[in-house]
Amino acid sequence: MTTTHDEQPLDFVIVGQGIAGTTLAWQLRWPGLRGVIIDRDDGTSASKVAAGLMTPVTGKRLVPAWRLDETWAAADDFYRRVEDETNSPFLTQPGQARLFEGEESRAEFDRRDWSEHPVEIRQPQQLVDATSFDAPFGGFELPTARRLDVPAYLAASRAVFVAHDTLRIADLNPATDLEFGDDEIQLTNHGIRTKRLIFCQGALGADNPWFPDVEFKAARGEILTLRIDHLAETRIVNQGVWLVPCGDGIFKAGSTYDFDNLDPGATTSGRDEIVERLKKFLKLPFEIVGHESGVRPVVLERRPIIGVHREFPQLAIFNGLGSKGSLLAPLVAGQLAEHLFDGRPINPELDYQERFRPRLPKAARPRIPRLTEQAQTLVRDVVRPGETVIDATAGNGHDTCFLAEAVGHDGRVFAFDVQNDALQRTSARLADVGYANVTLLQRSHAEVKAALPEVDHGSVAAVMFNLGYLPGSDHAVTTRTESSLTAISTALSLVRAGGIVTVLAYPGHAGGDDEAGNVQNLIEELPAAEFEISIRRSATTSKTAPLLFIIVRR
Ligand SMILES: Cc1cc2nc3c(=O)[nH]c(=O)nc-3n(C[C@H](O)[C@H](O)[C@H](O)COP(=O)(O)OP(=O)(O)OC[C@H]3O[C@@H](n4cnc5c(N)ncnc54)[C@H](O)[C@@H]3O)c2cc1C
Ligand SMILES: C[S@@+](CC[C@H](N)C(=O)[O-])C[C@H]1O[C@@H](n2cnc3c(N)ncnc32)[C@H](O)[C@@H]1O
Repeated sequence: MTTTHDEQPLDFVIVGQGIAGTTLAWQLRWPGLRGVIIDRDDGTSASKVAAGLMTPVTGKRLVPAWRLDETWAAADDFYRRVEDETNSPFLTQPGQARLFEGEESRAEFDRRDWSEHPVEIRQPQQLVDATSFDAPFGGFELPTARRLDVPAYLAASRAVFVAHDTLRIADLNPATDLEFGDDEIQLTNHGIRTKRLIFCQGALGADNPWFPDVEFKAARGEILTLRIDHLAETRIVNQGVWLVPCGDGIFKAGSTYDFDNLDPGATTSGRDEIVERLKKFLKLPFEIVGHESGVRPVVLERRPIIGVHREFPQLAIFNGLGSKGSLLAPLVAGQLAEHLFDGRPINPELDYQERFRPRLPKAARPRIPRLTEQAQTLVRDVVRPGETVIDATAGNGHDTCFLAEAVGHDGRVFAFDVQNDALQRTSARLADVGYANVTLLQRSHAEVKAALPEVDHGSVAAVMFNLGYLPGSDHAVTTRTESSLTAISTALSLVRAGGIVTVLAYPGHAGGDDEAGNVQNLIEELPAAEFEISIRRSATTSKTAPLLFIIVRR
């Protein structure tokens, strides 16, 4: 299927026909969407070697699978439907005999409260045939364990896709083959236009330039095909490695996990590892008739990942099926399909955008300005050159210098502080920047009206308060509730229409809590017709975080 410029673009293109791409393709076909799958069919996919086991608990620690009841039900419904449509059986329920490797794994099993999990467990008198298997520590049976014949599932699906002309055997280069149009993508070299392009590339997705922040932890695995004469077992048997009956005396055995060497191809060390572990519980001789390897697409957190690109919503990803692709794919593909075409939200546990944030260098990350900076920004917007302003708490002189610059050489700053030390520091800072438009006053800000020339009463553009104590000095010398309230009320009477008073308060120090609370009461009781008020908190949830009160005279 190709799309010319006269036709509507396709609804979707899926890259990859492994378990992920195949399962998603069905979920998109069923509601009637038009699309194609592009697969390079080079024989290296994980799906081609997967044993297709679907077991409710896995691993040494017998961990129940992620969202077991949902994934299990979704997988059952999905595969049965595809079996019906393709008229080919590929889902069976052989059950599993799980043999304990030692006392430790038996103790782990006994410790668990199995009633908490939707897992059927049996412990028959004789778990396995003693002439075929060695099981000195016992074990248990999982009668519902299933097996998806993955190659059969993929082949049956492929036959349908081919019959509908919706499969292309081709290599899509994500770096060069995409051209973005309005609400669509053109796949140059493929003669296709599509609304959505969904990458289901398995471990090859690690090189996809559109989703570079997805952290892959891919794991190569190997599987042996064995001929075992006279083994009548029909269940999967597992003790560290699993043995899967495939009929006619043929069994699969595996598998290994190698996170370092991801090169294609089977290895002698992989073979030896499986053989050695198999011999620990299988008493019968066997012949190796096949040996394959594949790379499991594992991503950080070992959970599948679905989602759309942050900038180009035409691009989506479905990956990370790890070692449980058969069980997880139906539920996860269903969620992606519903998100892409019905706009349903993605479970944040799976969502690419939630789990992988763009890794910006620290310096490039946006920084929330401190409240002192926010106060200065607000004041800068109000004050005009040549005006009169007040720093009610000079301290180290940062706000005084800022105000001196804001009003310029023709303006005037009155800076108050009760401490000589503070005024000296402010004076030194002013001298550094060369401003001579500041009057330093060693007086309490409660006396601001008396200290200010009468001509300025009612025409002050801004008053800044930064309450508390002088950093790096005696913490006992601090602003006090009573004088602060007097000073703030007085300051409000001195500002012009449109003028601003900012008060930065620190509830975290002794007395600061009372002071901040009272300031808040004062400003909240101001007549709304005369003053516009707002309160900002610093970006933390702490109760003692600083508060910035902003009052603008109307
Ligand atoms: C040894 C082994 C044993 C396993 N056993 C089990 C098991 O018992 N049970 C289980 O559930 N899972 C098992 N798995 C895991 C299972 O195989 C994976 O979860 C699953 O196959 C991943 O499917 P996928 O579609 O994401 O990736 P893949 O199967 O790797 O498919 C990706 C496809 O995309 C194609 N592709 C990639 N890039 C491009 C491109 N640019 N252009 C065109 N095509 C492209 C590839 O050719 C490939 O066909 C096993 C895996 C291994 C390796
Ligand atoms: C947090 S500091 C101010 C910091 C200052 N805004 C700066 O930019 O460096 C608080 C200052 O208020 C002063 N102070 C305390 N009580 C005062 C009062 N009644 N009147 C004026 N200043 C006072 C303290 O001496 C201290 O220097």
